[in-house]
Amino acid sequence: MWGGRFSARPDEIMQAINVSIDVDKRLWQQDLRGSRAHAAMLAKQGIISFNDAKTIDDGLAKIEDEIQSGVFPFRHEFEDIHMNVEARLRELIGPVAGRLHTARSRNDQVATDFRLWVRDQVDLTLQQLIALQDALVQRAEQYADALMPGFTHLQPAQPVTFGHHLMAYVEMFGRDHSRFADARARMNENPLGSAALAGSPFPIDRFATSEALGFDRPMANSLDGVSARDFALESLSHAAICAGHLSRLAEEIVIWTTPMFGFVKLSDAFSTGSSIMPQKRNPDAAELVRAKTGRITGSLIALTTVMKGLPLAYSKDMQEDKPPVFEAFDALDLALRAMTGMILDLDANTDKMRAAAGAGFSTATDLADWLVRNLNIPFRDAHHITGSAVKLADGKGVDLAQLDLADLQNLEARITEDVYKVLTPEASAASRQSYGGTAPDQVRKQIQSWKDRRL
Ligand code: ARG
Repeated sequence: MWGGRFSARPDEIMQAINVSIDVDKRLWQQDLRGSRAHAAMLAKQGIISFNDAKTIDDGLAKIEDEIQSGVFPFRHEFEDIHMNVEARLRELIGPVAGRLHTARSRNDQVATDFRLWVRDQVDLTLQQLIALQDALVQRAEQYADALMPGFTHLQPAQPVTFGHHLMAYVEMFGRDHSRFADARARMNENPLGSAALAGSPFPIDRFATSEALGFDRPMANSLDGVSARDFALESLSHAAICAGHLSRLAEEIVIWTTPMFGFVKLSDAFSTGSSIMPQKRNPDAAELVRAKTGRITGSLIALTTVMKGLPLAYSKDMQEDKPPVFEAFDALDLALRAMTGMILDLDANTDKMRAAAGAGFSTATDLADWLVRNLNIPFRDAHHITGSAVKLADGKGVDLAQLDLADLQNLEARITEDVYKVLTPEASAASRQSYGGTAPDQVRKQIQSWKDRRL
């Protein structure tokens, strides 16, 4: 492509470090879209003839067929996707292919292709997040009344409902959705027409290519147009946060499915066995979702490091932007689909959850609250009395609700029979009617509010 200035071929090592076709061939659809929009604009502006534009467009359509049917020759000697397409175009339509690169550089070309690719992937991610939320909401409705222990420090804290727990993730994934939607809006500006870095002397119409490619407007500064990769960084950081959320839910599935908990069962479709231990049902998918976070966060670190300190405008360093982004979005795509699959698959053992919900003195706060509300005892003192009650019950090996009234009255004489009403996990959960709380009525309101927002 630059034979005019050069008389010798590149060293093998030069070629090896420079070549990117094996990676950036994934941009082929975006590259063809960009080139077709560019050629049409060149003709409309009188920069090339309509005849030539038609020949070029037909050639690009043929290339699309070739790639789709797997016969396109991807060649290392042509370095990247852009030059592979152009070289093939020349073979198909002859020298007129050379007019396609008028008023364009690979710098704005790759910036455009990559932005389109990330935008496509963000659109897919947005859909997948909704699918995951739908799955979680479906289960939350099913288990809106199902009691389970709520934990802090992974120690039994207060009873909650499984529906409430699942809806917490719906909120998290909702914020992920909104972050990706924000990123999409910010990235939706067109770099094409920035040319190498300084813009073009040809009378190009950047608004026309913007419209053709679904961008809201051209990027305002051509140096920024070829230099900016923060759209990729922003998407990666949102992906890393989302992967973190997925890993927390994955970890909970790992915990819930262990026989010691036995809260949840995954069917054979989402479990794996062991080649040596016949009893095993391993939650491999959950573990792998948990682990994908490493790749995704690693990709964010990789690209922030590549971009750090690069002078304007384009530097070849930026060719290293693609592997981490492809890797991260592949991992996120799989993780989101696997998580949705597990949520749709899982079956809760509500008896086991209910039993655990009442264990570990999980209604101790309810006893303290009863003392505050009925005897007007300051909360700190109520906390102290309740602590003594827990100590007593623990020593006797019984639950709070199994202590005799006389035992409780020894700690605080004014306690009455009425206190037992608040000591069941059902009563505890049902009493938490504050906005966003775990009472089944509140959980149903959260579900309804999510459905209203989703519309
Ligand atoms: N393959 C290159 C990349 O991915 C395309 C841009 C090359 N531009 C250049 N001036 N060498 O970044």
